[in-house]
Amino acid sequence: MTTSALQIRSRKRRSGAAPIVMVTAYDEPGARYVDAAGVDIILVGDSVANVVMGHDDTLHVTVEEMCHHVRAVAAAKPRAHVVADMPWMSYHVDLADSVRNAGALVRAGAHSVKLEGGRVRREVVRALLDAEIPVMGHLGLTPQSVLAFGGFKVQAKTREAAEWLIKDATVLQDEGVYAIVIEGVPSVVGTRVTEALEIPTIGIGAGPDTDGQVLVFHDLLGMTSRAPAKFVRQYADLGSLITSAISDFARDVRSGDFPNLAEAYDNPDELLN
Ligand code: KIV
Repeated sequence: MTTSALQIRSRKRRSGAAPIVMVTAYDEPGARYVDAAGVDIILVGDSVANVVMGHDDTLHVTVEEMCHHVRAVAAAKPRAHVVADMPWMSYHVDLADSVRNAGALVRAGAHSVKLEGGRVRREVVRALLDAEIPVMGHLGLTPQSVLAFGGFKVQAKTREAAEWLIKDATVLQDEGVYAIVIEGVPSVVGTRVTEALEIPTIGIGAGPDTDGQVLVFHDLLGMTSRAPAKFVRQYADLGSLITSAISDFARDVRSGDFPNLAEAYDNPDELLN
C-alpha cells in the first residue's frame, strides 16, 4: 500500500514518529533502488534540471519534462509516496493553469505536488487542495528564487527573516499543506519552524531537528560534477565506479577480449558447413 500524504502529515518527531526519509529519483531504475532502500517519500524534484539535464539552475524544466520523469518513476510502482515538483512558472501565472499543471503531474503518477514559496502561494495552495491534490510546501533557500535571491544563498539569517519564514510556514500549514521542505537555513531556524508547526518539516541544509531529511539522489551517491553543498553527506562514489566500469569495457573491446565465446550465441551446425 502506497504511503499517503495523510500518513506523512502525522509524522512529527515530537509525537514519537520516526524521522521521514525523502530522496529524489527521476527514472524507473532510480525509483526502484530508492524504494528498495525503504524511503518514505520519493521526490521527483525539479533538481532534474541540474543533475540530469545539466542546467545551472532549476528554472529550465517544464511541466511536460517533469511529467516525463514522473511517469518513469511511477513505472517502478514504488511503495513510497511520490511527490512531484511543480516547475517554475507552472503555478505563478494563473490559478486554473496551476490546477491543470498539478493535475498533469498527478495523471503522470504523482501522489502529491510540491511548490515553493510562502504566503504569496496561499491562493494556489487552496486551489490545488480544492481540486483534491495534496500539496507539500518548500521554504528557505527555494532554488526557483535564485534570480530574486541573487544566487544560492543561505536564507533566514536575521531575526526578522527567520520570523518571516516561520510565519510563512504557519500560513502554509493553515492553508492545508501536509509537510514543508525547509532548505538552506541556519539550524536554529530549522529547529524553531519545526517546533512552531503541527505538520512535519523535511530539512535539507536545515540542521538536525527537522522531522525528516531529504537529499538529492546524485549528491548522496557521488554522481555530480559540482562540488557538493555543505549539507550533503556522500554515501558512495558511484561516479568513479561508473567511469571505472566503462573504462574496463572499453579496454576489453579494444583488446579483443570482449565478447568471448560464452558471451556469443552458439552457431547452428548448418551455418558452419
Ligand atoms: O528539486 C529538488 O530536488 C528539491 C530538493 C532540493 C528538496 O526540491
